[in-house]
Amino acid sequence: GIEIKKLRAEAGLITLDPGYKNTGSCESAITFLDGEKGILRYRGYAIEDLAEKADFLEVAFLLIFGELPNKEQLEKFTNDIKEQSHVDEEMKKILDGFPKAAHPMGVLASLTSALTAFNPSSVDVSSEGDMYKAIVKIMGKFPVLAAWTLRKKHSLPLNYGDESLDYVENLHKMMFEKPGKSYKVDKTVIDALDKLLILHADHEQNCSTSTVRMVGSSHAGLFASISAGVSALWGPLHGGANQAVIEMLERIKEDGGDTHKFMEKAKDKEDPFRLMGFGHRVYKNFDPRAKIIKKSADEVLGQLGVDDPVLDIAKGLEKEALEDDYFVQRKLYPNVDFYSGIIYRALGIPVEMFTVMFALGRLPGWIAQWREMRLNKEPIGRPRQIYVGPNHRDFKPLGSR
Ligand code: ACO
Repeated sequence: GIEIKKLRAEAGLITLDPGYKNTGSCESAITFLDGEKGILRYRGYAIEDLAEKADFLEVAFLLIFGELPNKEQLEKFTNDIKEQSHVDEEMKKILDGFPKAAHPMGVLASLTSALTAFNPSSVDVSSEGDMYKAIVKIMGKFPVLAAWTLRKKHSLPLNYGDESLDYVENLHKMMFEKPGKSYKVDKTVIDALDKLLILHADHEQNCSTSTVRMVGSSHAGLFASISAGVSALWGPLHGGANQAVIEMLERIKEDGGDTHKFMEKAKDKEDPFRLMGFGHRVYKNFDPRAKIIKKSADEVLGQLGVDDPVLDIAKGLEKEALEDDYFVQRKLYPNVDFYSGIIYRALGIPVEMFTVMFALGRLPGWIAQWREMRLNKEPIGRPRQIYVGPNHRDFKPLGSR
């Protein structure tokens, strides 16, 4: 609950709400969600319709500019992004300096930040025209950087996109094409990836998006704000959960598949273990994205002929949790990341890239929220605090401590 404390007479009342559980930070016209009813809409359109009927760049345009694009608008947006799908060659040297074992999210955050150095005109933007240029730049360059983090890990030569392909297939090709081998991909894979990116594209004021708005509120540029968003997303309580889920399911499998044992572990307050992929700050009924992804996991694995035993473990855990008092009382349901990792794995995406895939999906949401914040001329974000440290103390020189 919110605590209201009187700080000092001149400061007036300060609301104390750790984790901002009940505190709104802005007015926004981008994403609506009703956690009690399990409703999620981007700019008024149901997530179920968008996941089924739209493609990722249409959804990106919708989120950023507020309306679904017509044919000409989509064509222009797509081409403007394609024109930006190269990064400065010097960026390769930066990537080269990272150890191979580095986590791709750390590398991606650093490279995104480094983009500011090579695109100084994108830093200080205030007109809508300048914003548009910065937006298509980051939409074009971010997938290159994301693909490179994977290529570095797998010692593959660094490449650029193929302008004849659409956004998602191009991303897939940049990640997976191998020298000397012709690149081919099943349409099922691209469709599934497209859907996953759409489902992750925005989720109102979550941790990474609030970070993007907060950093952007100081008028640091778009790329610096996105880089901060990548760092915020990395944590296992947020986007990092998709990697943590698959690692947990693997651990349960290797331990003999006893889901009950792990349920009990998650309920034990002395044990730091949590059931990853369960629970959500806002959804207290079900996460509509999880419903779509669960169905999609079944379809994709079926179409690709993949038989993954961890899917059965996941379904077993979900079934057990739905009947368990601890989980029912706390309204803990599978979230978007409970099943996404299983699909990513079936699509051949390595586990350490799962959160990068999330970041690729979330990019348009971060951009839309940053743009809205700037167009609304929001003030710099600067929360207050309740000071609980010592009162005035007399300084003691080092020798007398
Ligand atoms: N396993 C076991 N217990 C849980 C879990 C879980 N996954 N999630 C919450 N709880 C319990 C808490 O221990 C707490 O119990 P208590 O009331 O007895 O103390 C209660 O449920 C409420 O949990 P909070 O941590 O207060 O809820 P909060 O809203 O702060 O946290 C969060 C939400 C971070 C998502 C949490 O549920 C969690 O850690 N889940 C696992 C990680 C995860 O899947 N994250 C991805 C979220 S979705 C996304 O970012 C894309």
